[in-house]
Amino acid sequence: MNTPIHKKRDLRTAADLGRDEILEIIHRSVELKSRLKKGDRPALLDGRCLAMIFQKPSLRTRSTFDIGMSQLGGHAVYLGPNEIGLGQRESISDIAHNLERWFDMIMARTFSQKHINQLAEYSRIPVINALSDFDHPCQALTDVMTLTEKAGKLDGFNLTYLGDGNNVCHSLMVICSRLGMNLTVSTPPGYEPDASVTKLVLQTVRKHGGRVEFVGNPTNAVANAQAIYTDVWTSMGQEEESRKRLEDFSAFQLNTALLSKAPEGAMIMHDLPAHRGEEITDEVIDCRNSIVFDQAENRLHAQKGLMVFLHEACQARSRC
Ligand code: CP
Ligand code: NVA
Repeated sequence: MNTPIHKKRDLRTAADLGRDEILEIIHRSVELKSRLKKGDRPALLDGRCLAMIFQKPSLRTRSTFDIGMSQLGGHAVYLGPNEIGLGQRESISDIAHNLERWFDMIMARTFSQKHINQLAEYSRIPVINALSDFDHPCQALTDVMTLTEKAGKLDGFNLTYLGDGNNVCHSLMVICSRLGMNLTVSTPPGYEPDASVTKLVLQTVRKHGGRVEFVGNPTNAVANAQAIYTDVWTSMGQEEESRKRLEDFSAFQLNTALLSKAPEGAMIMHDLPAHRGEEITDEVIDCRNSIVFDQAENRLHAQKGLMVFLHEACQARSRC
């Protein structure tokens, strides 16, 4: 087995990024977005190749990494579950040692976070978590980019996350706490975020200011929200639990009755895909204050900002 080489940066979980790095990625993403709107497509990843490993379906992540790479002058190759059989047809370390010979970067959407960590450990090229059961850092980067565009500086911004303490929630908790935001998390009993993430963010808020609170009652949780975020109650891979989850989460639906308890003008956020009629109603997701398609649009720009950031970080390290 080869010894892992550490002259590279990965995004295994949101916790891999410090506050200044998150701000730098937002800055790069906003800049690339503005340049694209003017027809300027800087070839910052000219000739570079991205391997896109998918064990689960995707619309936004797959499309935006692929388009983003080509806009930056590079190329992306899709490797679906039937192609590589991660850890089944071939060991993760063998896959990593193959990919690093051809590609410049890997992004992977997996079931297990362990598989992301192993890809990062065994490959000499950067690995990006494009969603695991534990984390979805690319989504949270996009979300704070979008909120920055809408609200300016995010220190002290009141965001409420409603629903499952899942991968999307974990990444938001980490990224928002590093930006000094006030995050209220409201989940039914038994669906709280992982204790390790809660512990980490409670330490982080001591350093960066801001606040992370856990409020069981959804009405109380939205009372001061400037934006309300929700995600599906049944994530990919949890389909067998769907019936139970529908019951357990029923009081957490983001509907007009709940929205009426929030301050006027509170923005509505969702990472998509939405299960309309479950965690969110049509009236709310399609309302005037919904920014869900701005979030979706920004996946493209945030992906580009992230890839350029990781590429430059690795180049800087190899010069040291
Ligand atoms: N939000 C998100 O990751 O969407 P996809 O599952 O379509 O990639
Ligand atoms: N929590 C959802 C996010 C989808 C982008 C899932 O893991 O399926």
